[in-house]
Amino acid sequence: MKIVEIKNLKHFVGEEIKIRGWVRNYRKGSSKLRFVIFRDGSGVVQAIAFKPEMGEENFEKVKKLTIESSVELIGQPSEHPHKKGVYDFQIKDLNIINIAPEYPIGKKEHGADFLLSQRHLWLRSATQNAALKIRHTVYFAICEYLNKDGFYRFDSPILTPNASEGTTTLFEVPYFDMGSAFLSQSGQLYLEAGIMSLGKVYDFGPVFRAEKSKTRKHLTEFWMMDAEAAFMEHSENMDLQEKLIRYVINTVIERNSAELEVLERDVEKLKKADAPFKRMTHREVIDMLKEKGVDIGYNDDFGAPEEEMITADSDVPVFIEKWPKEIKSFYMKRDAKNPDLVLGSDLIAPEGFGEIIGGSQREDDYEILLKRIEAEGYDPKDYQWFLDLRKYGSVPHSGFGIGLERLVQWMTGIRHIREVIPFPRMINRINP
Ligand code: 4AD
Ligand code: MG
Repeated sequence: MKIVEIKNLKHFVGEEIKIRGWVRNYRKGSSKLRFVIFRDGSGVVQAIAFKPEMGEENFEKVKKLTIESSVELIGQPSEHPHKKGVYDFQIKDLNIINIAPEYPIGKKEHGADFLLSQRHLWLRSATQNAALKIRHTVYFAICEYLNKDGFYRFDSPILTPNASEGTTTLFEVPYFDMGSAFLSQSGQLYLEAGIMSLGKVYDFGPVFRAEKSKTRKHLTEFWMMDAEAAFMEHSENMDLQEKLIRYVINTVIERNSAELEVLERDVEKLKKADAPFKRMTHREVIDMLKEKGVDIGYNDDFGAPEEEMITADSDVPVFIEKWPKEIKSFYMKRDAKNPDLVLGSDLIAPEGFGEIIGGSQREDDYEILLKRIEAEGYDPKDYQWFLDLRKYGSVPHSGFGIGLERLVQWMTGIRHIREVIPFPRMINRINP
């Protein structure tokens, strides 16, 4: 007998086939009728058990099914009598695989802490399933775009000897008789070596930050896509980010309409974001915030409330560029027009989703970079390999890093980052 995935049922109307999965829910129609909401990962279908059709014995088996029991159903897909494009499944026979005891996640509202402690089960819910499918789309859309644009995948290491994004958020791990290693905060520095061989490269993997902050946007382990290109300058870097993000928006809208509906995402808002992004300098943003009455100085960074104000009147993401060098990383290239500024950019998503990308042109001058490393209080010996890149065929180059979960939050409209990664790691949670 043919085994079919639920998403393909429409091609098998009237044929006897088998589907395999889990009971999401069930309800009684009458003494002779039962409805089983059945899912298999690929989709969800209403399966119908009608005693006169399937016989007494099989109908009794259906009555045994509980929420999250696993089972094989044998029967025929049928077109819904009133709803076009909707398919049901007429059960004829079934093989019960496992009858689940009372499921801990019920229909009543559960607190976030309880749901997180049940994350291994919570993943099965309709909303979590939808969020994870959109995460899948976003991940592959990014790779597709870059592959097509001539970027090579270049995997950076996770165990590293030094910091890329400051020493305050480093996770330290014992490393044999060599002392300590650190979990990578971003693969960027290694990608800068990669471009000198391959021209344009990207990595995509987990990165780690011992973030002490407990916010809706911070994880201690999250996924980052770092891209880097030789000869790419600051404004081209932003052009690339914009094209890539707009490709992601369109791909999600195209491939995930069903999931966006489950999540009640306002798709019009996403469509409106697919237009030229705004660009403002850090200084212009400070001026704008001052005008709105915010007490902020020209060398200050932005927190979540400021980020929300920056995009409050904007349907599209906003680039904030040209930052004071004091508040950005050591590797950013100084602005030739103003040495107090660096050619960095943050991309702020609309609707309060905050920073989704950090990028910059990189310092390519050996002496200036050395001074920046010393000024940070780092030991230049640790960065000798990185400095070498400025010695042997240095070229102008730029890159950026997308926080996958931040981008998925925005696409899905999910307010808390813990729901867009299978198993979130936060300052107060590492289980399950
Ligand atoms: O802005 P960040 O720190 O930039 C870098 O790490 C650069 N080295 C990237 C590069 O140029 N290749 O981090 C990049 C993005 C942020 O914009 C944000 O979206 C996300 O990573 N991010 C986090 N996401 C979840 N939890 C955290 N704790 C995050 N910290 C940063
Ligand atoms: Mg940043």
